[in-house]
This record gives sequence, structure tokens and C-alpha cells, in this order.
Amino acid sequence: MIQETMLSSQELIQLENKYGAHNYHPLPVVLSKGRGVYVWDVEGKKYYDFLSAYSAVNQGHCHPRIIQALAGQAQRLTLTSRAFYNDVLGPFEKYITDYFGYDRMLPMNTGVEACETAVKLCRKWAYEAKGVPTNQAKIIFVSGNFWGRSLAAISSSVDPNTTRNFGPYMPGYVIIPYNDLEALEEALQDPHVAGFMTEPIQGEAGVVVPDEGYLEKAYALCKQNNALFIADEVQTGIARTGKLVACDHEGVRPDILILGKALSGGVFPVSAVLSDDEVMLTLKPGQHGSTFGGNPLGCAVAMEALQVVKDEKLAENASRLGQVFRRRMQEELVDKTEIITLVRGKGLLNAIAINDTPDSETAWNICVKLAENGLLAKPTHGNIIRFAPPLVMTEEQLGECCDIIVETVLSFEEV
Ligand SMILES: Cc1ncc(COP(=O)(O)O)c(C=O)c1O
Repeated sequence: MIQETMLSSQELIQLENKYGAHNYHPLPVVLSKGRGVYVWDVEGKKYYDFLSAYSAVNQGHCHPRIIQALAGQAQRLTLTSRAFYNDVLGPFEKYITDYFGYDRMLPMNTGVEACETAVKLCRKWAYEAKGVPTNQAKIIFVSGNFWGRSLAAISSSVDPNTTRNFGPYMPGYVIIPYNDLEALEEALQDPHVAGFMTEPIQGEAGVVVPDEGYLEKAYALCKQNNALFIADEVQTGIARTGKLVACDHEGVRPDILILGKALSGGVFPVSAVLSDDEVMLTLKPGQHGSTFGGNPLGCAVAMEALQVVKDEKLAENASRLGQVFRRRMQEELVDKTEIITLVRGKGLLNAIAINDTPDSETAWNICVKLAENGLLAKPTHGNIIRFAPPLVMTEEQLGECCDIIVETVLSFEEV
């Protein structure tokens, strides 16, 4: 083990290539240390992290308070399973339900598990409260959604690369276009519809922000048609978009709220589903669960991670810095170059679109160059680069990052 940490980046990449499944295509950078907004590779080169592990590290790498919570709890009790009570889950449940304003919380580990929990809950509510006939419940999703890689999740995908050769898929899904209220209204006419699940801003699809008012009207349509509004805030939640959750931008309180990623500051997999009694209490003992869900380690970490978000005013910081970031990208790239066609986003969840075909290598090449220049970002779908730094960034640091991005992109314009 010790020997492995002495290996070079190239040697470590070769190990992954030889012994790992090839289910990812990482940038050729091997990281070994992180602190705040920075990460370092094994050769000691320092980078700004502009991905934050897909918005899991909102509180910054190895936040001292979160690490202390982890270490303290790790020395007392890590896992009991839910066969017994533990002395951290109850306090965490009280803390998080007060924090987000719901009656109850169901803890899971990863985002995809929490999303699947929400889908199960929605179906259960449909059968037991709404009166949908057995096995007839439908859930509406929007095209371009992403909620993970399980079979239930990919069944709602319209991306052939995600679905090809993994069928058969989950029945009972209806997929409509994103940001299309007419399509939603029409789909909701079906009395077997249990709910509508959406990301308030589509992260993986390329930071796609719907029209203003979309969430509010979609919520109202769900209410008119007795369907649950489910918000997948695994990526957009926990201050990322400049509000505690992105639905707050439109004053929408989802019937089911799904959180993950930054719920633990990227320290430990903790996800959660929040809802009120009418929905959550349809679940009875033995009908859902997870060995690790609600473990004391995760609960202690998540409570501290959420408290850090409040104490350090991370939503306010994301909102302020996001405006600075988009203004600079607009003025220095979109308005002045051919290569960048738009910047979009909210808070510190943003993206720039490259003027090239979706299958071109331009976004990838820009990200490789950005890494050489000390900033890590990753292309997402269709020649789009997502920028999502830790929310603990200062304005001075952000300014330096904007300089790196502008200079790097301009070097492509001149080629
Ligand atoms: C919106 C959204 N939901 C769910 C997930 C799945 O989370 P996880 O990878 O922790 O299972 C993701 C992951 O990127 C996501 O962006």
C-alpha cells in the first residue's frame, strides 16, 4: 500500500487501466490531496477544483470541522444497522427535518438510492392514498434527466449510451420534454400518474436551467392533478445554486425532496429523502431500507456538513460569486469570441457551451489545457463544460480562476 503512494501519475493511471473496469474516462490527473478549493496531484502540482466531485464537495475538501466530526464518531460507533437504534440517527433526523422543514426523513447512502427511494415512496402513496389500481402507477420524468446508473434510473434516460444493452427497462415511466409545461399538463391527465420527478436545474445534461416560473407552475399542475412533485436536488441542493435548495428560487416546497452528495461535504456517502407524514408513513417496517443507511458515522458527518453551510453562509457566497463568474464569462468570452456561445447557470453551478459539434473533442481539449494551467473541470454532454467549484471560494480566488479560464479558452481561439 505504502509503495503505491510512491508511484507516479502515469504509473497509477496504468494500474487503473489494467486492473479497473473501464466505466469512466477521467482526465489524466491523479489527485492525492485536497484542502478547501484546492487539490494536489501525486507530483505535488496544485489545482483549483472546478468540479467539486460533481457538487459533493460544496464545503471544500477535507473541511476541518467535518473531518473532526468523522474522526470523533469513527472512534465511538460506526455502524449498527437499523436492527437496533443508535444515538445519532434520531438527533440527525430532528436536525435535518428542522433544517429543511419536513415532517420526516429517510436516510440512504448514495444519490441513486435516495432517488429510487423517492420513486418507491411515490408509488406507495399512489396505491395507498390516491387509489391508483395495483401495478398501474406511472411516474413522469423529463428527457435529459440524470439520477444515477441503477436499472431504475437508466430506465428514465433518453441517452442511448446510458441504456443500450441494459434492457429490459422499468415499466410505468412516462418521459416528456424538459421545460415543457404543456407536455406536463397533458401527461398529468392520466389518473394513474403518481408523481412528477425533476431536477430543478439539469446538472449532467449540461446545467440546463428551465424558464423562470417552470418549477412553480409544474408544482401547481401536480397539485391540480393530485400528483406528487418530487425534486431531485442531489446535485443542485445544499447551497450550490445560491439557495439552500434550487426549488427555493421559485418558492416551491416539493412533496418529496431528495438530497445527497454535499449532504456530507463529500466526506462519506449520505443521502436523504424528506417528506411529510402523508407520504412517508405509507412505508411500514420491512418495506424499504439499507444496511448502511442511517449509520452513526454518516449522521454525524451530515449534521456537521449542514451546519457548516449555515455558519459559513455558503448559499449567499455561491449566489454572489456566481454573478461575478457569469458576468466575466459573458463579457470576456461569449461577447468577444466565436468559440464560446453561452454561459448559463445559477449560483456556482454554471456551464459554458462550445461552438462545435457535440461529438467534437474541443471541450475535452480545453479541459486538458485547463488542467495544465491549474484548474480542473470536466466536459459534460454535447461540448459543454461545467464549472462547479467548492462554495468556500473567495472572490479573489474566483478572479484568478476566471483569468485561467479566459486565457485558456482564448488560446484555442487563436489556433
Ligand atoms: C441530479 C442527480 N441525481 C442523482 C445522482 C446520483 O447520485 P450518486 O452518484 O451519488 O448515486 C446524481 C449524480 O450525479 C445527480 O446529479
